[in-house]
Amino acid sequence: MQNLLNQPLVLKNGTTIKNRLLKSAMSEQLAVDNKPSQTLINLYKIWANGGAGVLITGNVMIDKNALGAKDDVVLENGADLEPFSAWASAAKTNDTKVIMQLNHPGKQSPKFLSKTPVAPSALSLSNGLERLFNTPRELSISEIKELVRRFGQSAKLAKMAGFDGVQIHAAHGYLISQFLSPLHNQRADEYGGSLENRMRFLSQIYHTIRDEVGDDFIVALKLNSADFQKGGFSEEDSLKVAKFMADLGVDFIEISGGNYEAPAMLEGIKDSTKKREAYFLDYARKFRQICDTTLVITGGFRSQKAINNALNNGELDIVGVAKPFAFDKNFAQKMLKNPDYNCQINEPKFGIKKLDDMLLSAVIMYWYMEQMKRLSKNLDPNPKLSLWRVLFSSIYQNGLNAIKKVRA
Ligand SMILES: Cc1cc2nc3c(=O)[nH]c(=O)nc-3n(C[C@H](O)[C@H](O)[C@H](O)COP(=O)(O)O)c2cc1C
Repeated sequence: MQNLLNQPLVLKNGTTIKNRLLKSAMSEQLAVDNKPSQTLINLYKIWANGGAGVLITGNVMIDKNALGAKDDVVLENGADLEPFSAWASAAKTNDTKVIMQLNHPGKQSPKFLSKTPVAPSALSLSNGLERLFNTPRELSISEIKELVRRFGQSAKLAKMAGFDGVQIHAAHGYLISQFLSPLHNQRADEYGGSLENRMRFLSQIYHTIRDEVGDDFIVALKLNSADFQKGGFSEEDSLKVAKFMADLGVDFIEISGGNYEAPAMLEGIKDSTKKREAYFLDYARKFRQICDTTLVITGGFRSQKAINNALNNGELDIVGVAKPFAFDKNFAQKMLKNPDYNCQINEPKFGIKKLDDMLLSAVIMYWYMEQMKRLSKNLDPNPKLSLWRVLFSSIYQNGLNAIKKVRA
């Protein structure tokens, strides 16, 4: 089997990436005053030196008044671009390409940050999340247009700061994915109803960004294969959106899945897919039949063998990996060089069923964020880092509200 993982690839816009390993977005929550901090910049330098072809930043918000987490980075009009340029330049060390993920949380903005979040429709989250997230109000048409403009503005600023591209975050239940979902979007105007209407917000964002940044800048998309909710965004819808966006000209599409209510991106879909490592490969095969745009699949890949298998089978062009990057600064090097490499992380549990069911997925996110913080200081990961310690320090830093179901 060929080691395709190590081979370069030319993207649609002409950018050559040196290998097929992409660090997928992970919200680092390392901003200070919502600006990139030195700690964040150090982290990206370490990752760039590690050898991945592409680094996608954790989600950067396009509006300071709409945060997914307190310490998110925000890029909007009037921002001081200096820390952003330092961030881009650190991440571009070692011929690495860096792409800024742009996001708006919509109703997935916790109570302590948004008294009245916005969404396509005034429908609250379910599954107990309504206790942690306020019911949103419906966006007006003029507000939708303003948000489209903001995405374009943030992309333009990212380009000015030296990033190689932006990725539109249309996955995981945030605002764009709320528009795509018939469950969350029950509008009766041109932004709701048919799939054509539900994807209007996304396609307008794409056009506005492209107009601002031109054809030589990477504009990528992160899309759910489905949100795994009854009556929600289906695989059939997703394939149509992927094809539509590919025809518009996105440079690559990264496939993930799920949202806060049904977190498939972190937990996988079913046991058989977990065994085969990758969560979204079935989708990839269907995508390939209708679309020849560069495809990235993210979720569950841990061994070079499984990745090269998928690459050699033509199931994907680039592999996206997240958690292992938070856990080992040499992860990329090992993955690229060692055919037998298999990175399994023993994630801790509380060991108390009720607590694990209620809190584990949220606290594990903080556990990875703590590991990223250690990495940024050149410290080794701490596999024994206690979940209790993570729990108490997140409560200390963010108040009780921190123990929400954090997923990005
Ligand atoms: C700590 C943490 C933060 C995350 N933040 C984001 C984010 O900001 N944007 C995003 O698209 N996905 C985010 N994700 C999801 C990952 O990009 C990825 O889809 C998921 O972890 C599955 O990939 P993996 O199995 O290789 O970790 C985050 C995941 C983790 C663990």
